Amino acid sequence: MTNVVVIGSQWGDEGKGKIVDWLSERADVIVRFQGGHNAGHTLVVDGVSYKLALLPSGLVRGKLSVIGNGVVVDPHHFVAEVEKLRAQGVAVTPDVLRIAENAPLILSLHRDLDAMREDAASNSGTKIGTTRRGIGPAYEDKVGRRAIRVIDLAEPETLPAKIDRLLTHHNALRRGMGVNEISFDALHQELSSVAEHILPYIDQVWRLLDEQRKAGARILFEGAQGALLDNDHGTYPFVTSSNTVAGQAAAGSGLGPTALGYVLGITKAYTTRVGEGPFPCELHDEIGQHLSTVGREVGVNTGRPRRCGWFDAVLVRQTVKTSGITGIALTKLDVLDGLDELKICVGYTLDGKEIDYLPASQAAQARVEPIYITLEGWKESTVGARKWADLPAQAIKYVRQVEELIGAPVALLSTSPEREDTILVTDPFEG
Ligand code: GDP
Ligand code: IMO
Ligand code: MG
Repeated sequence: MTNVVVIGSQWGDEGKGKIVDWLSERADVIVRFQGGHNAGHTLVVDGVSYKLALLPSGLVRGKLSVIGNGVVVDPHHFVAEVEKLRAQGVAVTPDVLRIAENAPLILSLHRDLDAMREDAASNSGTKIGTTRRGIGPAYEDKVGRRAIRVIDLAEPETLPAKIDRLLTHHNALRRGMGVNEISFDALHQELSSVAEHILPYIDQVWRLLDEQRKAGARILFEGAQGALLDNDHGTYPFVTSSNTVAGQAAAGSGLGPTALGYVLGITKAYTTRVGEGPFPCELHDEIGQHLSTVGREVGVNTGRPRRCGWFDAVLVRQTVKTSGITGIALTKLDVLDGLDELKICVGYTLDGKEIDYLPASQAAQARVEPIYITLEGWKESTVGARKWADLPAQAIKYVRQVEELIGAPVALLSTSPEREDTILVTDPFEG
């Protein structure tokens, strides 16, 4: 028996929410360890859809759910998401939800800055296409040692100095951008108004998780975004502002790396990306449109259409290494039903030379061209398949080809948005 880390192995939206929900039945504690409400995780249970951004997906099953110190917490969004889940009949109380006291807050000034930068960059053609939720500015303040953290809401005596420090930085930026400054009173008022909603949930998460671990609990770490959006290993600067690779599960929750266990890379059977940045296998033709329509590829939070393309084995093979993936959950295989032929990218050409990796340079990432192999498609429907034996021979061939190219086995296979439409090959908790 082991703990399991779930991460996205591409550019996010691989189906992490569905797989975390499915695995939650076997888990005792579910922990978010990075990102914030830029995540959009969809769970479908008996036809009812739950969309989570900040809260761990394990809440829907009533499992102990933890927001780790590596997460940036928008208290306004927190209140709204708790209300939304309660309206769907999910219990959200401090019995089942804990927030790390040392997690940094996302405040309205972070949201402002994210939006102002994106607007300014739109005019010059250099925008990232962020979710505009303040994620980047909040992480900047964290590493800049001027963030206001959850625990600060409980310490009225030290809060004024922290507000001053934060405003010195932000008001200088705001003056430079020609927008109104924020007063001490306004920020103090914002923090006071959220304190009572968030403080009941705070905990020493490092201690809680250590105790759970010693008591034999199974811990499921729920990643957000994907490895190609990782601040170090992704398509920088078109990335998010946290580390999304599996190693972050330790630092972002307060457990050591030996606690992590099985690393499950959630992997879409084709590739999508939201926002700007390089995408070597992107399709601008009717097949790209087909994947978008059949796969319902629209961003959960921002409603933006996701860009679509063939499966890129180069990227996932790299993620297998940067995250130490033990096995993958292959999702949305059903979206490929009915296509005459399928392509898989097995390498790139860069300036006339073949390479087997994603280069680190931004310019080179924009120049690589995919090298494809072509496989025969299948006519049968795989939607809702729950047994390996229900899959057409060509679909099995596709899965085997993916495994071979990325160098990792398929542990789970998903064939619809519904919780139960999942084929178990290897139980990650059994290692
Ligand atoms: P996440 O961010 O990784 O949790 O993924 P999202 O929830 O943003 O996007 C995945 C979308 O695909 C959601 O709408 C899911 O309901 C849906 N989905 C997940 N697995 C499957 C699958 O195997 N087949 C199909 N057709 N849809 C799936
Ligand atoms: P889930 O958890 C897909 C993308 C944004 C943008 C870049 C930076 O649902 O897989 P940010 O707001 O984080 O500063 O934006 O990262 N992005 C995601 N794309 N899925 C996500 O989360 C994402 N979270 C951020 O579109 O390109
Ligand atoms: Mg998503």
